[in-house]
Amino acid sequence: MEYSERQLERAQSISDLRLLARRRLPKAVFDFIDGGAADERTLRGNEAAFDDWFLVPRVAVNVSNRSLEHRFLGAASAMPIMLSPTGLAGFFRRNGEVLAAQAAARSGLPFCLSTNSIASIEEVARAVPDGDRWFQLYFLRDREWMDGLLRRAADAHYRVLCLTVDLPLTGKRERDVRNGFTLPLRPTLTSVFDMACRPGWLLDAMKSPPKFGNFEMASSGSFTSVAQHVASLFDPSANWDDVARIRERWKGPLVIKGILHPADAAKAVELGAEAVMVSNHGGRQLDHSPPALTALPEIAQAIAGRAEIILDGGVRRGTDVLKAIALGATACASGRSFLWGLSAGGEAGVRRAVEIFRQEMDNAMALLGTPNIAGITRDHVRRCSSF
Ligand code: FNR
Repeated sequence: MEYSERQLERAQSISDLRLLARRRLPKAVFDFIDGGAADERTLRGNEAAFDDWFLVPRVAVNVSNRSLEHRFLGAASAMPIMLSPTGLAGFFRRNGEVLAAQAAARSGLPFCLSTNSIASIEEVARAVPDGDRWFQLYFLRDREWMDGLLRRAADAHYRVLCLTVDLPLTGKRERDVRNGFTLPLRPTLTSVFDMACRPGWLLDAMKSPPKFGNFEMASSGSFTSVAQHVASLFDPSANWDDVARIRERWKGPLVIKGILHPADAAKAVELGAEAVMVSNHGGRQLDHSPPALTALPEIAQAIAGRAEIILDGGVRRGTDVLKAIALGATACASGRSFLWGLSAGGEAGVRRAVEIFRQEMDNAMALLGTPNIAGITRDHVRRCSSF
């Protein structure tokens, strides 16, 4: 199944795009994107946390000229939102990383490429030379390979490095185990039948067999054996000394992703990070860790303006972005919102997700009485319990 631009335009919200993605993808693939760890308490909490806050409008403000433009980490962005790094995007939609990066560049938003991408660092850079490209790095046991990835990202002019620190190993993702979407793959009769019932995805996937673009050294063997090898490369012994080592090697802006404790945020800033990403990996790592928005105010207090803060997790509405900014974030990031758009409609689907955020933010800012992002303050939000 492929959706026309008109069908994509009928999607009024990010959750509409999710439903379109659900119809196109096999269940195991959809669940891999959609799911979280264990009871998915943190996954649900990420979205629910936004319901704990009201937006309090100020009236009689001239909002006839509005702008969503914003600067973060030294570059202009059309809006204060970016595409979080997500592994395997090219598996959900052929050439997925390039399509998402192109959509981001056309929309004037930063795109962050995952270490675990299907397209390589260089392929994305060649296809999208002008976009604001960031590269996400995991700690790898093979430090030479890790340094090599850093060099490759710098040589290919990625502007920002995003170092993810919340994955010493993978969280307990039970949907994937039930669906046999594990390493090695354990397809069930149901999942094979389900894939056959999704010819749009299947034919697209068959046109280019998946690979791990940044791990050419592991390119022999089946995709699952390579995936197993790549998973075994993550280094659970990594610590702050390793963060300091990366800081020395990367000359551009550095973001530390996966921070939930104010002391860790402060440590990241002491070591010279220009930003922290307040994130629980979209509820995919430690279940029962705090929803990202809940962790934000304390972290903003600890950082006290010394670095920028990107809020990542559960952002589905323009109003979510405004609430995060009011609570101290410089900008937001989202993984699933854009992956659902990508899965449903490729580049046009990602652009539809961006447009939904743009319209919702523009509308909410007018109604909130704030014609620009800089005008959003802590005074625009109240905790529900205080009403
Ligand atoms: C992710 N995320 C992620 N993070 C990262 O640093 N490197 C990665 O390779 C991936 N891969 C990945 C795959 C998929 C399918 C998802 C859904 C997520 C986490 C991602 O960057 C981000 O933190 C979350 O997606 C944010 O939550 P929302 O916006 O999806 O609710």
